[in-house]
This record gives sequence, structure tokens and C-alpha cells, in this order.
Amino acid sequence: MGFVRTIRLLTASKLLQQATAFVEYGDVSPAKINLGSTITLDATTPYTNQSITLTPSTPFLTIDYGTEIAGLPFVDVASLSGPTQIEVKYSEQYPALLEPQSDGPWVFFNGLSNTFRVETFNLTTKGRSESFFIQGGQRWETVRLLTNTSVTFSAIGMNSTAARVSPNNMPATFTSSNDVYDEIYNLGARCVEVACVDAGNAVSTFEITSHGVLLRNQQASLSIKSTSFANYSMSFMTKIVRSGTGWKVAAGIGPYGASFILTSDYPTDNTLLNTNRTLVPPNTLVFNYGWWIVNQTTLESGWNQYFPLQQTIKEDQWYDISTTLTAAGYNVTLDGTPIAFVPVAEAALLAATGARFGSGSPTAGSFGFGPFQDEIAYVKDVVVVANNGTELYRNDMTTNEVLTEYSVQDLEHSICMDGAKRDRLVWIGDFYHTARIILASTRRTDYLLGTVGYGYLWQMTEGPFAGFVPISPQLGSDPANKDAFISQYGGLIDYQDLFLSGIGNYFRATGDSQGLSQYWPNIKAQVARRLTYVDPVTGLMAGEDAFYFLGPVNGSAATALSAYTLRLLVPLAEAFSDLPTATLWNNTANSLSAAINRELWNPALGVYSLSLTDRGNFSLTAIAWTILSGTANATQAASMVAKMDTLRLGVGYKTISSDPNLNTTNLSPNTCGFLLDALFKAHRDLGVQNLTVARTLLDDFWSKMVTVDEYYSGTSWEYLYAGNGAPGLDLFTSLAHPWGGAPTYVLPEYVLGIAATSPGYKTWEFAPVLNGLGLDHAEGTVVTPYGDINASWQILGGGVVVLSVNAPAGTQGTLVLPNDNAEAECDGWKHRGGKMQLSGSGMKKITMHRW
Ligand SMILES: *[C@@H]1O[C@H](CO)[C@@H](O)[C@H](O)[C@H]1NC(C)=O
Ligand SMILES: *[C@@H]1O[C@H](CO)[C@@H](O)[C@H](O)[C@H]1NC(C)=O
Ligand SMILES: *[C@@H]1O[C@H](CO)[C@@H](O)[C@H](O)[C@H]1NC(C)=O
Ligand SMILES: *[C@@H]1O[C@H](CO)[C@@H](O)[C@H](O)[C@H]1NC(C)=O
Ligand SMILES: *[C@@H]1O[C@H](CO)[C@@H](O)[C@H](O)[C@H]1NC(C)=O
Ligand SMILES: *[C@@H]1O[C@H](CO)[C@@H](O)[C@H](O)[C@H]1NC(C)=O
Ligand SMILES: *[C@@H]1O[C@H](CO)[C@@H](O)[C@H](O)[C@H]1NC(C)=O
Ligand SMILES: *[C@@H]1O[C@H](CO)[C@@H](O)[C@H](O)[C@H]1NC(C)=O
Ligand SMILES: *[C@@H]1O[C@H](CO)[C@@H](O)[C@H](O)[C@H]1NC(C)=O
Ligand SMILES: *[C@@H]1O[C@H](CO)[C@@H](O)[C@H](O)[C@H]1NC(C)=O
Ligand SMILES: *[C@@H]1O[C@H](CO)[C@@H](O)[C@H](O)[C@H]1NC(C)=O
Ligand SMILES: *[C@@H]1O[C@H](CO)[C@@H](O)[C@H](O)[C@H]1NC(C)=O
Repeated sequence: MGFVRTIRLLTASKLLQQATAFVEYGDVSPAKINLGSTITLDATTPYTNQSITLTPSTPFLTIDYGTEIAGLPFVDVASLSGPTQIEVKYSEQYPALLEPQSDGPWVFFNGLSNTFRVETFNLTTKGRSESFFIQGGQRWETVRLLTNTSVTFSAIGMNSTAARVSPNNMPATFTSSNDVYDEIYNLGARCVEVACVDAGNAVSTFEITSHGVLLRNQQASLSIKSTSFANYSMSFMTKIVRSGTGWKVAAGIGPYGASFILTSDYPTDNTLLNTNRTLVPPNTLVFNYGWWIVNQTTLESGWNQYFPLQQTIKEDQWYDISTTLTAAGYNVTLDGTPIAFVPVAEAALLAATGARFGSGSPTAGSFGFGPFQDEIAYVKDVVVVANNGTELYRNDMTTNEVLTEYSVQDLEHSICMDGAKRDRLVWIGDFYHTARIILASTRRTDYLLGTVGYGYLWQMTEGPFAGFVPISPQLGSDPANKDAFISQYGGLIDYQDLFLSGIGNYFRATGDSQGLSQYWPNIKAQVARRLTYVDPVTGLMAGEDAFYFLGPVNGSAATALSAYTLRLLVPLAEAFSDLPTATLWNNTANSLSAAINRELWNPALGVYSLSLTDRGNFSLTAIAWTILSGTANATQAASMVAKMDTLRLGVGYKTISSDPNLNTTNLSPNTCGFLLDALFKAHRDLGVQNLTVARTLLDDFWSKMVTVDEYYSGTSWEYLYAGNGAPGLDLFTSLAHPWGGAPTYVLPEYVLGIAATSPGYKTWEFAPVLNGLGLDHAEGTVVTPYGDINASWQILGGGVVVLSVNAPAGTQGTLVLPNDNAEAECDGWKHRGGKMQLSGSGMKKITMHRW
């Protein structure tokens, strides 16, 4: 069986398992290509469906898709001179293509996608060969001919798993006189296309057959029934289909633990030419402790230990393997014969360092199965016996329940992940930015309600985390197993608030109380649980052993986010006529804000202190959330914005004043996104005129995602290095992370200037930023349940600005004049200063002077 299979085979075997239909988005073709003797950043030949021929003298094809795409890679073979192998690589950024593993492998979680960013296609027939696995996100692809043959492709590309609408054709839009700002807007808009997935477009990576589970190269996903097992012996039957088989023991809920790979004798006809015989030699057991057997930048594992076997390991033959965990070490047998003993000492060391991800002990934790790169194997008849002889577990691995147990079920909810290629987890904190970006661009609200519904399927109903949802449910896992994922409920407590604020912003933009009504009890339960974290003495957000992403307990950032969340949700409570709840949340928000001002305002610094126990430091997250929540008054806001200079570092701003001033400090577009929103809000609502920091964020920081071709992905990034603005976190980083896309919702709301003042834009204000960004024009479309609001403004010569707005019936707009002397004229009516009602629907043209 080849690694790549034809479409016919694919549909036949998949349909049996798959409950939700695949959503077709068509094929994505390359934008530009280059054919040559090496790969190149300058792939400049436009792709116009011409056929492409690889030969031993031109063995390299570089494909540039232009911007990030997601899908199932394919080649359509028109002709080949003989059996042909090609090595195909994928990456978000160009430099990764120069690395043997590209920007992978993704060993953090299975993600219902390819763990590897390099795969080999074995081509023997004409027609389409499509990868078994999804590649979640890439701009680049390369093809390297491995055989001494020639092959001609009539087409090459990806069977897209995501929509690919040009941002100016999306339902909501923004453009301006600054091309870089327009492209910054586009980053978030494109990003939520690839970072959200339809039910049906991520299927199981396991194939269940009557003789066990068939596993192609993939990071192990662990048995969720076995997380409490310790000091056991795990045995299973395995048959190598190609090159090797792999398993893990003593892992956590994530695949961090003792990892084993057993390789075959590599028969010539069935071994891919680029099999790395140094990394995985034939007839060998490879052991490592950690993520797997290769390091991937920030995800480090231990060192590989090699156990060459005295016997030949045949393909297409069943072997009985057992791994016994004892205090002394791991004892591996093959058909009853010991083949390796790994002393536990070094694993213990790594178990301790990786405790956050693993089981914390080298002899405790779950097990799972997954062969290494380009390997394929069957696994069946798994039996686990405790060291006292009691059988703990038995599974022949032939039923679909295996998918639930090993958290590799087909995706049956349309959801948004943190990133397209990585982590592919439904991080609920990231949902805040994702929701707002979708509302300001693609309007794929099915993904928003899908993520909300999916989150609440996981909501705890009892125990210490009753009301909470897990911070990062993984694709393929089943909420029925939520108790086994208990460790995901207690981390990053403020992610609960960010998820709730995502919901609050959905309601603010859509007024869709109907769509949210089924979740009202869930929302209330989640808020209720959060309110128990208010410290009765300080009045700030705290909690025993609590850890917040945005800053410390009893601190300004996390408390202000809670105040913001509660205020944002008050109109939702009112929509459900739940006035006691509206009053409680409003009062609590008021008392949280009062506590921040009472306990944490630091007049000497002119900014809120980080926390009660760290009064000398401060953070831009607290500056952002105290402004966004209405906690800071105009004087405080102006003082804090002036203070931003001390957080300036390299191309942007560091998050906390104590962050090191290093070129290698990771700057966060996530936290800077909250700040960008706050800076414009302070400008609009609190009279903080100075927009230097906002402009710096756009011109020096976000621009780096646009202007550097070797890193450009067309989508927003996870982190940037302070020194040069290159992607942070090295090749592990995600260059399609919605959390880095805040400008997509900030620019329409403030720079174009259309903002909802009641849910669903029933009332709205038009308050554009005419000064301070060097723009002379902006226009865009804001989508409301009543219809679109189309707006624009243009600065003409002679101190005149012309504004236009076309709003739907059922909404009421107000023009906010930029100063007391500004004069506006509309339909023959003149108005000076303050606010001007734009009565009725239809097109309004406004001329403004002295702005
Ligand atoms: C290439 O083929 C695709 C799909 O058949 C088609 O949509 C597209 O217009 C073609 N492009 C050119 C430049 O001919
Ligand atoms: C590759 O194929 C060509 C043509 O069939 C032949 O002349 C050449 O010797 C082959 N080279 C190798 C390295 O096998
Ligand atoms: C794309 O992949 C899906 C899912 O495997 C499949 O059903 C569909 O036929 C494929 N489309 C094309 C054009 O290959
Ligand atoms: C390639 O595919 C052919 C035809 O299915 C098969 O005979 C051969 O073993 C495969 N080679 C490898 C290396 O998988
Ligand atoms: C093969 O593996 C070795 C050892 O891990 C590594 O140094 C080398 O870069 C790998 N080569 C390729 C082409 O992957
Ligand atoms: C990973 O990196 C660590 C630290 O540099 C090193 O000790 C280890 O040997 C590496 N592991 C592999 C598999 O290369
Ligand atoms: C490993 O297991 C085998 C078979 O049970 C046993 O004979 C051998 O003594 C064990 N080795 C160690 C080091 O425990
Ligand atoms: C054997 O060990 C298992 C797992 O630790 C435990 O549940 C069981 O009670 C033990 N049985 C006996 C007879 O001690
Ligand atoms: C919320 O509190 C503010 C400040 O006390 C008050 O003005 C407002 O009326 C309250 N709103 C509700 C819905 O209780
Ligand atoms: C703003 O808050 C500061 C600090 O609490 C206070 O000193 C100042 O009077 C307030 N300003 C206004 C205008 O309320
Ligand atoms: C505007 O703010 C920036 C950053 O805080 C500061 O450097 C600059 O001096 C301010 N400009 C004015 C005119 O106050
Ligand atoms: C930090 O980065 C800047 C900009 O790339 C460079 O000029 C400077 O030399 C770097 N500093 C250090 C210490 O590497």
C-alpha cells in the first residue's frame, strides 16, 4: 500500500467512518512557481495551468501560493517515465524550506492533520494522488524529484479545506489611502478563513479496519481511559506496512513521555528513497523521552537511544511487542524476547522538566500509537496488565469507539482554532480576537456559534471547576471524556473571560439573542464561577493557586478584563429580561473598577501597578483593559498612553515593564491588539489626542507582517522578535494566528469610524479618525442584521472633508464631530460641534469644515 492513495480509495474507506460531509471549497492552484535545480524565494513564473515536468536536471519545483492556504495536497500526474518518488515540503515562511523538517513536525497534539511538514509521494499511475492528511497552513510548497525519472503534472495544488475569498470581496471590508494598512486589515480577514474549520473538514487520522487500526505517520494520540495507569506492562500486536511502527507509554494527556520507534529491514521495493537511515536505521528500536525523536525548536525532547536488533524485522508480518514500566526502567520485548532495557534515570530527569505537558512521572501515564515519518503500520490486541498481574485494559482496536478513546474523532462542529497549522487547539482565549475579526470581515458566524456551542459541550457541571470550559479542547477529543481533561479547566483563568467577551462582542455586533438563547444558562454558570475568584478583601480578581495569562492575581490586567466582560454582557442579560443578573454584573463590574482604582492606581508612575505585590511594574495589558473596561478616566488614560514610551522595544512594545530588553524578546500582537483597540478608544471617548503609539504599532510593528517577503504569509502572526520584527518562537511559530489580527476589527471601528452603540447597530456612531494617521481616505462596509452600512470619508483640498454613509432602515446613526468648531452640512442642514443625527436610511453625503 502506498502512502498516497487515489481519490477512489479515499472516499470508499472514509465514508464508512465519516458522519459529517466534507465541505468543498475547490482546488487552490499555485500563484507562482519556479522549476530549477534548487528551491528559490523568487518563484516568479505565474502559474496559468501550464503542465510542469520534473526531470533529473530540473528536479526542484518551488510553489508560492501567494498567501496562506489549507487543504489536502495533490498532484495530477499526466505522464511518468517510470515509478517516481517526490518529496513534498510545506511551510508558512520561506526560510523553513531550507530545513530538513521544514517548519515541523507538529508534535504538540495530533490536530487531525499531518504531524509532518515533509512527505513523500510514491507515484506509479496517472491521475490524481492526494495526501491522506490535511496540511493546516502554508504559503509555500516544494517538490523534489527523488527518482531518475521524469514526471509531468497537469495540475498541482491543494483540495482546499477553507474558503479563500479575497478580502475586498468579503461581506465586511475596509480600505484606505495607505496600502500597508489595507494589507494589515487583510491579514486577520484571511487568517480566520484558515484558522477555522468546518465540521467534516478534519477527519480522523486513524483508519479502523477489521484487523486493527491502520496508522500512517502521526504523533501518538493517547488513550484517555488510561491516564491514571502506572507501573504497567502494555503489549500489542503490530504489523509494519512500510518502514516502521511507533508507540508511547507513560505520557500525559498530551504526547509527552517515553517514545519508541521500531523499524523494518527496509526492503528495497517498499522503502522510500529519502528514508533517513541516520535518524531511523533499519532493524532498530529507537527510544526517546519527551515529545518524540526530533527536536522542533522550542519543543525539545531528550536524546535518541538506538538499540540495533539481532534479528530482521519483516514488513507485512505480525509481531507481539510489550513494554514494561518499572522503577528501574523500560523493558521492551519482541515476541517474548527482550530487545531493549532503558534505565529510567534520564527519563526521570525529563519527566520532571516536562511535567507541565507529561504525566510528571516516567512510570505513570497513558499510552498511544503512531509511526514516524512516512511509516505505516497496523496495531491491534492491546493489553495492559498491572505489575500485580491484574488486567487493566484490553482492546482489539477494531471498533469506532477507538476514535473516541484516542481523541481522534472526525470533527463534527464548525470551530475556530488558535492557528491554522498549530496548535490546532480550540484555545478559548484566542476566541476573543477571532470572533471580532470574523464579525469585521468574513462574517462566518457559523464558526462563532459553532465554537461557543462546542465550548459549552465541555462545560463542567460539578466539582471545583463547575461552570468553566477547558482552555484548549483538542480537535478529535470527546466532551464525554471531560473528566479526564480536568487539568485543562484550571489553567489561564482569564481565558474564561476572553471566551465570554467573544460572546459579548458577537451580541454587540449582531444583536442575535436568539442564537445565544440556548447558551444563556451556560453563560450565567460560567460567569458565576468566575465571580467566586473575586478576593473578598481586596476586591480584585484572585483565587487560590490561580494563574492568569494577562498578569498576576490581585492585579490590574486580569481584574480589568473581568470588569470589561461583565459590562459587555449586561445588554445580553437585558435582552433576556434577566434584570437581577444585569444588575449583579453591572454592580460587580463597578466594584471591580473601583477596586482597581483604589488598590492599584500608582500616581507616582502615572499608570496602574501590575499587582498588589508588584507595585513597581506595569503592563500594556493593564493599560489596554483599564481603558477598554471604562476603569481609567481621561487623565489616567492620557498619563498611561504617555507612559507607553517606556515599554518601547525594537519594532514594538514589550508587554510588561520587567520583560528583558533583548532583541530576542517575543513581542505579542495578541496583547498589542488589545492595546490598539484601547488607544483608539481613548482617542475617541476620552480625548487622548496623541495617536503616536497606535501609529507606531501599525507602521513599525504590524507592517513587519506585510513587508518582508521571506516571512510574509498573508495572515497575522503569533509573535515577533523585538530586534528585527522576524517571526518570534523560531520555526515553531504560527504565522496564521487570529490573535495577532486585531487591526482587522480596530480599523473599521475607529479609522473608518462606524461603531455600534446598541446591540446589532440598531444605533451607531460615525466618528472617523481624520487626523493623526496620515490618511486622506477610508471606506468600508459594516454588516448589521438590518443590512449593510457603507461608509467612506475623503479629505479634499481647502480644509474640506467629504463623508458618505449609506445605512439600512431600522438603524439610527449619529455623526460625531471631531471638535467643537467643526461644521458639518448634510441635506441642507448645518451643524457645529457635538453630535449630529443622521436621520432615516439611504445615502447621506456630508461636507465637513474646520475639522
Ligand atoms: C486554471 O484552471 C482553473 C480550474 O480549472 C480555472 O478556474 C482557471 O481559470 C484556470 N486559469 C487559467 C489562467 O487558465
Ligand atoms: C538515469 O536515467 C538515464 C536515462 O534513462 C540514464 O542514462 C542514466 O544513467 C540514469 N542515471 C542514474 C544515476 O541511474
Ligand atoms: C477533496 O477532498 C474531499 C475529502 O477527502 C473529497 O471528498 C473530494 O472529492 C476532494 N475533491 C477533489 C476535487 O479532489
Ligand atoms: C510504490 O507504489 C507501488 C505501486 O503501488 C508499490 O508497488 C511500491 O511498493 C511502492 N513503493 C514504496 C516505496 O512504497
Ligand atoms: C537525518 O537525520 C540526521 C540525524 O537526526 C539529521 O542530522 C539529518 O539532518 C537528517 N537528514 C535529513 C535529510 O532529514
Ligand atoms: C534536542 O536538544 C537537546 C538540547 O539541545 C539535546 O540534548 C537532545 O539531544 C536533542 N534531541 C534530539 C533528538 O536531537
Ligand atoms: C525484561 O523482561 C524479560 C522478560 O520478562 C526478563 O527476562 C528480563 O529480566 C527483564 N529485564 C530487565 C532488565 O528487567
Ligand atoms: C493490582 O493493581 C491494580 C492497579 O494498580 C489495582 O487496581 C488492583 O487493586 C491491584 N490488585 C490487587 C489484588 O492488589
Ligand atoms: C450600571 O452602573 C452604572 C454606574 O453606577 C449606572 O449608571 C447604570 O445605570 C447601571 N446599569 C444597569 C443596567 O444597572
Ligand atoms: C481620575 O482619576 C484620578 C486617580 O483616581 C483622580 O485623581 C482624578 O481626579 C480623576 N479625574 C477625573 C476627571 O475624574
Ligand atoms: C505623543 O506620544 C508619544 C509616545 O508617548 C510621545 O513620544 C510624543 O512626545 C507625544 N507627542 C506629543 C505632541 O505629546
Ligand atoms: C538588535 O537588533 C537591531 C536591529 O536589527 C540591531 O541593530 C542591533 O545590533 C541588535 N542588537 C544586538 C545586541 O544584537
